[in-house]
Amino acid sequence: MTADDDDVRLCDHGPMSAGPVHDAVSATGLTKRFGGVQAVRGISLTVPAGARFGLIGQNGAGKTTFIKMMLGICRHDEGSIRVLGSDPEDVSVRRRIGYLPERLAIPPSFSALAFLDSVARYKGIAAERRRGECRDLLQLVGLEESAWDRKTGGYSKGMRQRTGLAAALVGKPDLLVLDEPTDGIDPMGRRQIRDVILDVAKGGATLFLNSHLLQETEKVCDHVAVLHQGQVVVAGALSVLQRKDSFRVAFRRPDAAALVAVANEQGFVVDDSHERDAGHHHHDADRLVTRFTGTDAGALSQALARAIGAGLVVVEVAPELVELETILMRSMAPAGGAPTTPTTTTTTTTDGARP
Ligand SMILES: Nc1ncnc2c1ncn2[C@@H]1O[C@H](COP(=O)(O)OP(=O)(O)OP(=O)(O)O)[C@@H](O)[C@H]1O
Ligand SMILES: [Mg+2]
Repeated sequence: MTADDDDVRLCDHGPMSAGPVHDAVSATGLTKRFGGVQAVRGISLTVPAGARFGLIGQNGAGKTTFIKMMLGICRHDEGSIRVLGSDPEDVSVRRRIGYLPERLAIPPSFSALAFLDSVARYKGIAAERRRGECRDLLQLVGLEESAWDRKTGGYSKGMRQRTGLAAALVGKPDLLVLDEPTDGIDPMGRRQIRDVILDVAKGGATLFLNSHLLQETEKVCDHVAVLHQGQVVVAGALSVLQRKDSFRVAFRRPDAAALVAVANEQGFVVDDSHERDAGHHHHDADRLVTRFTGTDAGALSQALARAIGAGLVVVEVAPELVELETILMRSMAPAGGAPTTPTTTTTTTTDGARP
């Protein structure tokens, strides 16, 4: 389903949650202090039901603290928070949430199967279904079968992490909260885990992901928020936050210099920054990479038609996007002294207006 800006809507999450569904998470003016540390300073944040939401920010920004308040693990000082339409301390809501904590403590004498079984009991899954579901989930997260009955105390970090993810998936949660899910997982495994997470989201669950791996967040999430020193500094739909008012247009590199001039005349400004940006676009001697400023597809089409008419060959046209890393850096940059003032909301719209 898509996230929209209705306060209450119907969505098809299966029998456990049929009926009106509120925003998956809705926080207003949330604060939390630990002794002298103000960990969270007035966070107002809304995660639409069905969104794939990513929370990012520096170490100590308050991400895990926010998650713990969201899950009723830690009590907030001020403000209010609702999760799946209820108080986070409501046990019936907790059963609809899957959570992979930042530091997962599995009793070391438990095997993965025993641990998952204990989670499945807590979630109220019938005895006859438990074993099958636990095995299916361990398979899904890629824990090798020979390890399923071994004590988790002897697991590698990645194996423990996979077990934790499987545990978070028990009972098909409506809200899946993952605090650094691929921490300690090898690159192949990361991809596998990403696919699992995306499949869960496709099934209608809301995803709440906290990761320092920005490329992972970019690939998985459709909404993001940046926390900085306990405040929301940017939030919205990724498609909107990443939008630039320009297109990247590449032509087959013309033999004649005159054709480069034609491209220029039509508004295609040669942009060699792409060629320097090795992380994103490989230098390609056969291509002339340009930038066309504006968002008007009609104007772009006309300019392209004229360029093609003059003999240029188009090999790529794409809207230009701002990388999440840039969004993060900008949001924390002391431009004029402070980060963009945030705290008022965020992600309630599909077009993800900035606060
Ligand atoms: N139980 C606690 N007792 C004291 N201080 C705490 C506690 N939990 C969090 N803090 C403090 O609150 C601030 C925010 O911590 P939090 O764990 O939420 O950050 P984070 O954004 O998750 O960081 P990271 O990216 O490193 O995981 C930090 O200054 C941290 O030291
Ligand atoms: Mg954390």
